[in-house]
Amino acid sequence: MEENIYQDHFVAKLFDRMSPSYEFMNSLTSLGFYPFWRQQAIEIISIGKGKKVTDLLTGPGESWKHILPRIGTEGELTALDFSTSMIQLAEKRKERYPEYNIKLHCENVFNSGIKDNSQDVVICCYGLKTFEHAQLEQLALEILRILKPGGSFSLVEVAMPETQWLKNCYRFYLGKVIPFLSKFLAENPETYNYLETYSNNFEGFDLMLAHLEKHGGNPSMHKRFFGCAKGITGVKS
Ligand SMILES: C[S@@+](CC[C@H](N)C(=O)[O-])C[C@H]1O[C@@H](n2cnc3c(N)ncnc32)[C@H](O)[C@@H]1O
Repeated sequence: MEENIYQDHFVAKLFDRMSPSYEFMNSLTSLGFYPFWRQQAIEIISIGKGKKVTDLLTGPGESWKHILPRIGTEGELTALDFSTSMIQLAEKRKERYPEYNIKLHCENVFNSGIKDNSQDVVICCYGLKTFEHAQLEQLALEILRILKPGGSFSLVEVAMPETQWLKNCYRFYLGKVIPFLSKFLAENPETYNYLETYSNNFEGFDLMLAHLEKHGGNPSMHKRFFGCAKGITGVKS
């Protein structure tokens, strides 16, 4: 039987195996674009001192450095991921910020203990592509469930660019550059081949936008670098 690469246990295991090289590989192979777009996605929305922010699908917690100084020690950061290895890395990262209030949740985003209407801001970076279309509506509902009315969200994901020459570059990058570099630099290089599949398959931006619109997220889309990444921001009604 063919494996379903969108099933929870498959995705969690994949990121468990990818975790040792995840940060290094992402920064290196994207020539710094991944960290830059992540930072942009967080800086684009207003986050004040003392606010409650959730970083959904936090991975090893690379978003935190852009969030913590803004919420200050009086704020609260909740970081959620279901990969136990990613959460272990996040726990290590938490030690760098002893003065901040960081709560780690090793949970499935669709079954989380985060309370209704409790968060001022929800961030989600590079987490959309491993969801099937049907799950995107669930994710939109979850973001809006945990946000307070008037709370804002910002999502970012890599995308297939629209112009042909960039499309060709992107395919070359995913199909050749990443597999080549991961062979030499990553602990479990085969895991990076799946990233190509997820990224090639992902066409969910408009759908996510429509779900957020339908459920009261008032979203807008932002293209990054000729459409090589896209962000969605919005405010809950
Ligand atoms: C591509 S990584 C993104 C990590 C981080 N946000 C970043 O900016 O690099 C996606 C993360 O989402 C997590 N994830 C995927 N599906 C999930 C789910 N249903 N519930 C919780 N975490 C999930 C994976 O374990 C992985 O760590």
